[in-house]
Amino acid sequence: MALTAPWRDRAGRVCGLRLAALALLSAPGLLLLQGWAAGTLGPDPVERATHETGRWAIRFLVLTLAVTPLGRVLGWPRLFALRRMLGLGALAWAGLHLGLFVAEQNGVLWRVAAEIAQRAYLAIGFAALCGLAVLGWTSTDGWMRRLGRRWKRLHRLVFLLAPLALLHAFIQSKSDASQAVLLAGFLLWLLGWRVLPAPWQGRPGALLALGLGAMLGAALIEFLWYALATNLPAGRIALANLDLAFGPRPAVWVGIVAAALVALAGLRRIAAGRGPA
Ligand code: HEM
Repeated sequence: MALTAPWRDRAGRVCGLRLAALALLSAPGLLLLQGWAAGTLGPDPVERATHETGRWAIRFLVLTLAVTPLGRVLGWPRLFALRRMLGLGALAWAGLHLGLFVAEQNGVLWRVAAEIAQRAYLAIGFAALCGLAVLGWTSTDGWMRRLGRRWKRLHRLVFLLAPLALLHAFIQSKSDASQAVLLAGFLLWLLGWRVLPAPWQGRPGALLALGLGAMLGAALIEFLWYALATNLPAGRIALANLDLAFGPRPAVWVGIVAAALVALAGLRRIAAGRGPA
């Protein structure tokens, strides 16, 4: 099978959308390299890079899951063509993340294996990475044909792997779980959208209710996390969601983004002359 450059579409034409996705996937790497060269990654650049690569891996994974809902809600099916590229991008970032962890262990593989076996959060990350690797390997057209209907069933595994990777991030986030809470809220929205009955998946009322649910769900996860896994005042942190003096907290951002999406979908419909509903 001839390999096509990632910025070309199936017809072999250069595609602006694919170029933009490629730029998005590589920009954090360029910034990281620049920080490394400029010596601004702090006293332990490898550890810092391990964190950054992990963060980008999970962000791109959540973004991959967002492609289908965004394409449907915004009436923008061209986005669907980016799913594979973004998913493979998330896998590449997760692979780099593991590579840096191996570098942190001075490349001693038995020590890497021992660390993974001894620490629950690493074992969870490892399980997520193995699952993502299987999905990446079988993401080709050839595997799609070979597996037929089973391909879709296999690739639904991503809805288990993303929460697993997020749990890995939560456990290591310790006293500041803001990023993990934000992504958990988005993930709740994305998983909720998939279980909505098909006719509701584009209805503004249903999408706003889903956004509210994801916002409250994220606030609940945040409360439970701080209450059960830390000594921090979980109640006060939960109440801070009502206080916007220092800017919106992660759960509130989930609500804001969900509402903005509904507004954007409405504007696109109006621009396309299909009316606001
Ligand atoms: C073999 C697999 C993996 C290993 C060995 C691993 C290792 C690590 C390590 C050592 C840290 C930093 C912990 C600390 O300094 O206390 C970390 C953090 C993190 N990892 Fe992984 N990880 C793996 C898989 C994954 C996967 C598959 C993802 C996502 C798709 C991921 C996402 C993250 C995130 C988001 C963080 C938190 C970064 C931060 O907020 O600073 N990891 N991981």
